[in-house]
Amino acid sequence: MKEEKLQELLHSLTWTEKVGQLVQLSGEFFNTSALTVGPQQKLGISDEILSNVGSVLNVAGAAKTKEIQQTYLEKSRHQIPLLFMADIIYGYRTVFPIPLGLGASWNPDLIEEAYTIIGKESQAGGAHVTFAPMVDLVRDARWGRCLESTGEDSLLNAAYASAMVNGLQKNLDKQEGIASCVKHFAAYGAAEAGREYNTVDMSERRLRQDYLPSYKSAVDAGCKMVMTSFNTYDGVPVTGNEFILKDILREEWGFDGVIISDYAAVRELIDHGIAKDNKEAAYLAMKATNDIDMKSPCYANELQPLLKDGRIDGELINQAVLRVLKLKNELGLFEDPYRGASEAKEKETLLKEDHRALAKKVAAESVVLLKNKNNLLPLNPQADEKILLVGPYGDNQELIGLWAVHGQTSDTVSIKAGLESYLKPENLCVEKGCDMLESYDFLGEFGATKDMIDSLSLSDEEKKTYLESALAAAEKADTIIFAMGEHTMQSGEAGSRTDIRLPQIQREFMKQLIVLNKKTILLSISGRPLVLTEEAETIDAILQVWFPGTEGGHAIADILFGQTNPSGRLSMSFPYSVGQLPIYYNEFKTGRPLTSATHSGRFVSKYLDSPNAPLFPFGYGLSYSDIHYSGLTLSDTKMSEELTISVQIENTSNRACLETVQLYIQDVVGSVVRPIKELKQFKKVQIAEHATVTVAFTLTREELKFYTCSMNYEAENGTFIAFVGPNSTDTQEAAFELV
Ligand code: NOJ
Repeated sequence: MKEEKLQELLHSLTWTEKVGQLVQLSGEFFNTSALTVGPQQKLGISDEILSNVGSVLNVAGAAKTKEIQQTYLEKSRHQIPLLFMADIIYGYRTVFPIPLGLGASWNPDLIEEAYTIIGKESQAGGAHVTFAPMVDLVRDARWGRCLESTGEDSLLNAAYASAMVNGLQKNLDKQEGIASCVKHFAAYGAAEAGREYNTVDMSERRLRQDYLPSYKSAVDAGCKMVMTSFNTYDGVPVTGNEFILKDILREEWGFDGVIISDYAAVRELIDHGIAKDNKEAAYLAMKATNDIDMKSPCYANELQPLLKDGRIDGELINQAVLRVLKLKNELGLFEDPYRGASEAKEKETLLKEDHRALAKKVAAESVVLLKNKNNLLPLNPQADEKILLVGPYGDNQELIGLWAVHGQTSDTVSIKAGLESYLKPENLCVEKGCDMLESYDFLGEFGATKDMIDSLSLSDEEKKTYLESALAAAEKADTIIFAMGEHTMQSGEAGSRTDIRLPQIQREFMKQLIVLNKKTILLSISGRPLVLTEEAETIDAILQVWFPGTEGGHAIADILFGQTNPSGRLSMSFPYSVGQLPIYYNEFKTGRPLTSATHSGRFVSKYLDSPNAPLFPFGYGLSYSDIHYSGLTLSDTKMSEELTISVQIENTSNRACLETVQLYIQDVVGSVVRPIKELKQFKKVQIAEHATVTVAFTLTREELKFYTCSMNYEAENGTFIAFVGPNSTDTQEAAFELV
């Protein structure tokens, strides 16, 4: 439809019809033939608005979306189709690793391929928009939503943000991908104390420097929508924050797409205490240019009264409606309200073999080898050794994590199945050993009934039997592989925790096997960086495998047996203890650094009971190859516009590898305090066995810019240090002058 026609359509709508376009309701409001009344009554939305609602939340499946659309359009005066929006965060039916695992791939091109597949599958399943990517920068592993983020670094996050948007929206005009809604704008990842939905308060400099680049990158890549975050920024909840939404997003960045509130976030302006009632909440959100009200009665019931009172200009509403109509038009919904989705297409698209193959490749690149004492890994599948796979995640398909709502665990390759493809049956023993958790009571908060909780918990008798049988098997084993981790419900939204070690029952269990002095390997399954301090001391080899997705078991087995050389690198620091949080590699300099020459002993910036450094730093990860960095060379000691920084990397092993070479800088003196290191570039390079490669980076003046004391974004002349290495800690360095 031409823009002119859209304008005509807009002006032919009544105010009720217009407001309807700005309201989003979830699936329970619609059933296949009629609209249900329960939730409608709960929200208190009129039938009139309900039959003009513009979009639906979290309904997927070609048949279901088609039926709802059809029923809706039969009664629609103007034939404006519904938009179907859903949380498709890291996979539709083919589930990729959780985004924190994707972050560890350091391979945005590969992640773009993954999101292209996610886009294709979602389109076939009838979704029009996904609430992804989630690009919130995270520095506090207590926050459960680390799971959804690619990590703690703004440059890396920005690279993934555009890759994900490009993947999802590939061939949008050919009905292949779906529209992307970046979230949660802005700075949701900085919730104080890692507690979900908590306050965010930070300087504008930090906001712009660290937190905004990933959203900006998604916007620049052309994402069609932006979701507001639940948190406050500088005292004002973002959903009603004109500085964040209007000044930065709309005006500075020129974003003319649709802004949607997070779930009930408009109404929550009342709970935050900046609106006294629904009407005021609607007023604040609309004024901040939030277009769609997700799952709250505020816009539905209050925009028209606000209009009548003259408090809201009709033009503001018109613009919001036009943005929604434009999106529908861009997606081709006026021509085909089903957007090419059908059950037949679904059948031929979901979980295709090449989708699974890519999921396996991505999962393999997400796995991080944290420790490998005496090169225990890789295991030799031909060796006539007995392997015990033990732990709650050994024979378990629950490997897709909390936020893969359209994925099915029954499609998932378990770790046991992965190992079976390498080992003779007589060499593999699989035992549960211990329960996942000591108690499942917390599931009650997520709606589990007492019966459900009881059915999950092992009886004392079962616990005893499992333990005895695991101990007996361990006695006979040469190598023990522990498949341990957090319960799926312990990370993701509303999954904040203060004790982020492995569950106690699992730690206690492992201890009983570790004393047997067998070779031990830990597969750590989690939605966040765990505190693995104890395990790093007692276990020989540790692989961080996240929630690895549909092909997890295959990818993990390929790594265990050396078919794949691990190449993942942490995109978020793994703390030594929870007391260090928030922790991140690019911290600022302090007046009394740990290595201070003038202050000694007690009076420097440190803990009395813990190192300052994390257990495993940002960028860290081992491979099965022996890699040596040398010869860091700068093309000049002075830089005006550009500088080339190169380094030699030698692989002295007989295994080819993928090495992620990282370039950091430090701006030694600035008009404001600068971070001790900042990632500027990285390259993931293939290095053949017994080969040496030279990796060169061209650093530009643009990359040295920051928000100066006067809040100008510019580079300041002076001394810089360039660091190159395999992670943020083990680097070679050389200084240069910016002139
Ligand atoms: C709340 C979450 O914060 C957000 O990420 C999600 O997209 C919405 N609910 C919709 O389900």
